[in-house]
Amino acid sequence: MMMIGLRKHTLRSPTLIIVLASVVCFVMFFTVYVYTSTRRTNPDKCNFYSSQGCRTHDLFPNANFSRELTDLEIESRVVVKDLLAFCPLQSKTPKVAFMFLTPGTLPFEKLWHLFFQGHEGKFSIYIHASKEKPVHTSKYFVGREIHSEPVSWGSFAMIEAERRLLANALLDPDNQHFVLLSDSCIPIRRFEFVYDYLLFTNVSFIECYIDPGPHGNGRYIEHMLPEVEIKDFRKGSQWFSMKRQHAIIVIADSLYFTKFKYYCRPNMEGGRNCYSDEHYLQTYFNMLDPRGISNWSVTYVDWSEGKWHPRSFRGQDVTFRLIKALSSINGSPHITSESKRTVLMTPCMRNGSRRPCYLFARKFYPDALDKLMYLYSNTTAFQSIFNS
Ligand SMILES: *[C@@H]1O[C@H](CO)[C@@H](O)[C@H](O)[C@H]1NC(C)=O
Ligand SMILES: *[C@@H]1O[C@H](CO)[C@@H](O)[C@H](O)[C@H]1NC(C)=O
Ligand SMILES: *[C@@H]1O[C@H](CO)[C@@H](O)[C@H](O)[C@H]1NC(C)=O
Ligand SMILES: *[C@@H]1O[C@H](CO)[C@@H](O)[C@H](O)[C@H]1NC(C)=O
Ligand SMILES: *[C@@H]1O[C@H](CO)[C@@H](O)[C@H](O)[C@H]1NC(C)=O
Repeated sequence: MMMIGLRKHTLRSPTLIIVLASVVCFVMFFTVYVYTSTRRTNPDKCNFYSSQGCRTHDLFPNANFSRELTDLEIESRVVVKDLLAFCPLQSKTPKVAFMFLTPGTLPFEKLWHLFFQGHEGKFSIYIHASKEKPVHTSKYFVGREIHSEPVSWGSFAMIEAERRLLANALLDPDNQHFVLLSDSCIPIRRFEFVYDYLLFTNVSFIECYIDPGPHGNGRYIEHMLPEVEIKDFRKGSQWFSMKRQHAIIVIADSLYFTKFKYYCRPNMEGGRNCYSDEHYLQTYFNMLDPRGISNWSVTYVDWSEGKWHPRSFRGQDVTFRLIKALSSINGSPHITSESKRTVLMTPCMRNGSRRPCYLFARKFYPDALDKLMYLYSNTTAFQSIFNS
């Protein structure tokens, strides 16, 4: 509440954002603490979201350090360890938070409306519009903008916007899973499928792998030492989805956040470019909770053309077969950037069996809307794609 009151006037400088985020985190930490300590008598409840219940972590999941940890590192690990061991705040009416990072109007709002229709009470929407105020066509999106700041492609402001979205979405205790989406993303599954997929998981869906090439480890600089060594540096898609506990440890982080803010950005010394949206959360979770992430993203994207930007789909590309094909993929490729590109396939697993990897897909041009609306409005086709 305090955050809402202050936001309009003061949420300008990054320091204040960090301070406010820390306050939110502090409040949450204690809410979580009080909540869990008052119901320790019924630990089985934890199993609703986590098949192992609340995990107790080793202080150092990667163990065997060859160096002494810095003060900040110890502080960070202590906080994260305790947050991971506590059961997150749970709710009788859990919701999925859909967080849209967009310059302005969402071209697929009508499609999302169709997706959300009839599921009131099971989702909440947050919009970070970094350029202009969106024009809405759906009642679900009206008034859902949060305070925003300008974001340019590849800049660190992207991470700050993601944190802003997470902090706002965490204010609602019913939000149990948090999905980051862009203006060019579309859903490729029915709402119920997405809801169950995301709520009944014990991992966050964050793509994470080692890329030894120039667009992976080549972006690392030694100013990140001692806390971030090159062996810990990871790459992955920006488009994550995470459980509440993980959203809280993102807000709790200032050590790695600051490292990446200063040493992983475009136009660094020597003309080097680093893009935190592809490295920060990936590296952070790899270091602090590697077993807690899936290593693949639930948002499909096609990098197979090997260009600077992924393949984008136009209206003429959109067919029943395309959507069906995307929604039935059950292995996720990690593409490295050496001259001899390698493609590592991660099978998408749950409880020992393969399952579809993707719930959303990008990138789609706005001109794909009519075709998608036509396709998704056909109940017969819709049911047959989304229930298989
Ligand atoms: C830690 O690493 C050293 C060498 O790097 C190895 O000899 C030792 O067995 C390792 N300890 C553990 C507990 O893995
Ligand atoms: C998630 O559940 C699976 C079993 O269903 C278990 O093997 C795995 O260790 C759990 N992961 C976490 C992070 O709790
Ligand atoms: C993701 O990768 C990490 C490290 O490579 C591994 O420890 C973890 O078990 C993987 N996650 C799953 C769900 O398999
Ligand atoms: C995992 O599979 C086992 C055996 O098929 C089943 O009993 C259990 O309920 C499954 N767990 C989850 C979380 O789906
Ligand atoms: C709806 O989809 C089904 C299955 O693909 C197809 O047979 C039918 O012709 C479609 N109906 C319309 C009105 O397009």
